[in-house]
Amino acid sequence: MRVNAPHFPDLTQKIQQLKKEKKALILAHNYQRPEIQDIADYIGDSIELSRKAMTEKDAEFIIFSAVDFMAESAAILNPTKKVLLPSTGARCPMAQMLTVDEIKRVKAKYPKAPVVLYVNTLAVCKAEADICCTSANAVEVVNSLDADTILFGPDKNLSEYVAEKTGKTLIPIPANGFCPTHLLFQSEDVKVLKMQYPDAEVMVHPECTKGMRLVADFIGSTSKICKQAKESSAQKIIIGTECGILHRLQKENPTKQFYLAYDGAVCPNMKTTTLERIYQSLKEEKHLIKVPQATAKKARISLERMFEVKT
Ligand code: 13P
Ligand code: SF4
Repeated sequence: MRVNAPHFPDLTQKIQQLKKEKKALILAHNYQRPEIQDIADYIGDSIELSRKAMTEKDAEFIIFSAVDFMAESAAILNPTKKVLLPSTGARCPMAQMLTVDEIKRVKAKYPKAPVVLYVNTLAVCKAEADICCTSANAVEVVNSLDADTILFGPDKNLSEYVAEKTGKTLIPIPANGFCPTHLLFQSEDVKVLKMQYPDAEVMVHPECTKGMRLVADFIGSTSKICKQAKESSAQKIIIGTECGILHRLQKENPTKQFYLAYDGAVCPNMKTTTLERIYQSLKEEKHLIKVPQATAKKARISLERMFEVKT
């Protein structure tokens, strides 16, 4: 499957010009539209983008081309910058599945269990966590804790995967949080592709279900999948994560063939960001991400603890 970026030369030029004038940096997630990846200053997974936002010195604006929780993390980690989210519709439904009340309810049942929250959560929830994690470091974060029972949310699939890897008891909060896009992948589709391409390697995101984990040769975050695809000697690779990643994979590995395990695996929230919205956001300096100071202070501690864990 090949994904070529459509060309919007006028808009691209206008964005480049405005970006210089306003000292803006564009950070884009691996799932962003191809034409956005092509103009971004930096493309990455959620931990890489957070780290980049945290350490950025020169820019006045950070245009966060991704979804709400990633932009919130950037604003928390680098409060001296103006973080803009071009599309107000770019909200991760999984992050909406966990509430502070639910954390408190389960915490009351397991008062000694630390709370590990996936970064795909809202800032108010991160403020209630002991530590955050991403799909790139969840196993190491859980292993770093001196506890065998851990409250983990909101992704139940990631929670199961980490429990398998660490041998610890992970209690999912909420009971059944999930990513609607990754739930679309089914192992049967991979098996059919494997009949066509028996030598293909299968690389999937840990937000996929157990069935997908069982047919995978590699499980990792979006950037870890990109790294593995480069390093692998396989010429054909079946991908179990959102379709936007194919643009980067194909660009970095022009001689390899990539097959999305399910063609409809689109995150509609990620796709609400367009070049036009990036342009408008830069021009009108909208939509500024603001996290109340008290929440940001507590959420920052959970994020910083995550950065301290060796991976
Ligand atoms: P990564 O951190 O692997 O990029 O994942 C973020 C995400 O939202 C996956 O659906
Ligand atoms: Fe959220 Fe899933 Fe979209 Fe990632 S792919 S941003 S987890 S809805």
